[in-house]
Amino acid sequence: MCGIVAAVSTRDIVPVLLEGLRRLEYRGYDSAGIAVLEPVDAKSELRRLRAAGRVAELAGQVQAQGLAAYTGISHTRWATHGAPTERNAHPHVSGGLAVVHNGIIENHEEIRARLKAAGSVFTSDTDSEVIAHLVAFNRKSSVSLLSAATQAVAELEGAFAIALLCESDPEAVVLARKGAPLLIGLGEGENFSASDVSALVQVTRRVIYLEEGDCAELRPGSVRIVDARGTEVERPVHVSEMTAQAVELGPYQHYMQKEISEQPGAVAATLETVIGAQSLQPGLFGADAEALFKDVSSVQIIACGTSYHAGMVARYWLESIARIPTSVEIASEYRYRDSVPDPTGLFVTISQSGETADTLAALEHARTLGYRATLTICNVPESSLIRQSRLRFLTRAGPEIGVASTKAFTTQLAALFLLTLVLARLRGKLDRHAEATYLQALRHLPAALQHVLAAEEKVAAWAKDFASRQHALFLGRGIHYPIALEGALKLKEISYIHAEAYAAGELKHGPLALVDQDMPVVAIAPSDTLLEKLKSNLQEVRARGGRLYVFADRDAPIGDEEEAVRIIKLTDHAGPLSPILHVLPLQQLAYHVALVRGTDVDKPRNLAKSVTVE
Ligand code: M6R
Repeated sequence: MCGIVAAVSTRDIVPVLLEGLRRLEYRGYDSAGIAVLEPVDAKSELRRLRAAGRVAELAGQVQAQGLAAYTGISHTRWATHGAPTERNAHPHVSGGLAVVHNGIIENHEEIRARLKAAGSVFTSDTDSEVIAHLVAFNRKSSVSLLSAATQAVAELEGAFAIALLCESDPEAVVLARKGAPLLIGLGEGENFSASDVSALVQVTRRVIYLEEGDCAELRPGSVRIVDARGTEVERPVHVSEMTAQAVELGPYQHYMQKEISEQPGAVAATLETVIGAQSLQPGLFGADAEALFKDVSSVQIIACGTSYHAGMVARYWLESIARIPTSVEIASEYRYRDSVPDPTGLFVTISQSGETADTLAALEHARTLGYRATLTICNVPESSLIRQSRLRFLTRAGPEIGVASTKAFTTQLAALFLLTLVLARLRGKLDRHAEATYLQALRHLPAALQHVLAAEEKVAAWAKDFASRQHALFLGRGIHYPIALEGALKLKEISYIHAEAYAAGELKHGPLALVDQDMPVVAIAPSDTLLEKLKSNLQEVRARGGRLYVFADRDAPIGDEEEAVRIIKLTDHAGPLSPILHVLPLQQLAYHVALVRGTDVDKPRNLAKSVTVE
């Protein structure tokens, strides 16, 4: 989704803004822009450049124009209201004032009508432009840019993060946050702002996360924050653990490739605190966890996309190991459905980013339904979901830059397995011996993941067969059905091949009609209790001439390869942890198919990394 970078300093901040935008490219966008206050004689002049396309194009314009300034704001836009054209790209201006905005202003039409009647001239189709005109209008009668902005923000409905600057106060950048992330980066004699910390690691790791309803004024030597009631407040300063290296590509061709290969380390880091333990403590999920977990009667899991698939896998674990009734639902459906809540249950949200608008709204909805025990499993400390949940577990995947989620998924699964064991123990469903066995399996997991990654060359060889296809089917059974769904999502997301996943037993109830010699069918075939059933389903595919691509365990009693049946054997069967291993070759397959097809692997068309709008 959209990204904001802003800076105010006594040195030229244009390179900082451009580098920040480059680092936010992973969020997904379709146009970019910058506005600065350029010193001209004793005054400052607003200059704006915009490009419908990549940050590199914007950087080319900046260089050609020789832009240099001490105060500036910049933006990558993911189009919602209005096409991804230059005229709709941010910043939007009104006189000498410029604004960048993430989110959606829901009451933009009525504000636009009012401002138009008062003489404002609109030049874009966006909802965001109203902010520029509204603040400019207020500025005429207010003492400062900050008070003009706070007055405007009080009128805006919807979710937003805003940065603005004005010729009338050239040493200030003003910020506002409601429902979309925005942070301040603290420097020496300079201050910054950005949508996420990765944009600023080049200049500072000392950050303040703005809270809901906050507005702020940045100057080179000062930061002022006022809360939603207009009271001046202090917010805690955090030192981010993110390093510039963690967000660099290093020797890899793509972030997705890097992130797939980082999974053994990411899972090991996520499990670090329990790897040496004799038994699992509920405190892993927060100080109140034991008290809240003890009497929960059910688990309701809510998430979107890949995180939803992690929830689907967890349902199998929670029901079979912890024996607790579990439901899993897509956040965008749950938030609007008239469901029957179980307020004595545990409400779990899963999110890589912690900023997904639908998941946040579902959590809020759950609170209104009476849920007390809320837990978030998330990869971003200080994210909105983490802050709004009573209990939390931070996965330690490190920054995930590729839009296609990979290491965030496997670390979510590791966290959900821990949750299963903790609940199972509290419910008396796990004896010491079983707990020790599971812990031993978790200890072995990073090594097993490394082993599975080694199959990459064989997987890459299959990619050529897929690259020319229009469609593909993915099959799995039981706990590997969500893994089939995840494999199909990865393939469609980055290669643009239409892929569907089915629980293999469903095949003959419809999808079998699609199978012919042109349809590649990927089967996830671990050596579990459903393998024989799955083999029968695969025969149904073979009998219709379908081409099978089977991922099996090392010792799987599964037939020999033939022209239309390809098999890759991975490693020993990992029992309940098997889904965490079996998703890896599916990620590799999607990656290599996308490489052959030449798509933009890390920034697939139309998609965003962090989906902060509904
Ligand atoms: O940040 P979240 O985990 O809440 O994001 C949810 C989905 O948008 C995300 O998983 C999406 O499906 C990924 N691009 C899939 O690779």
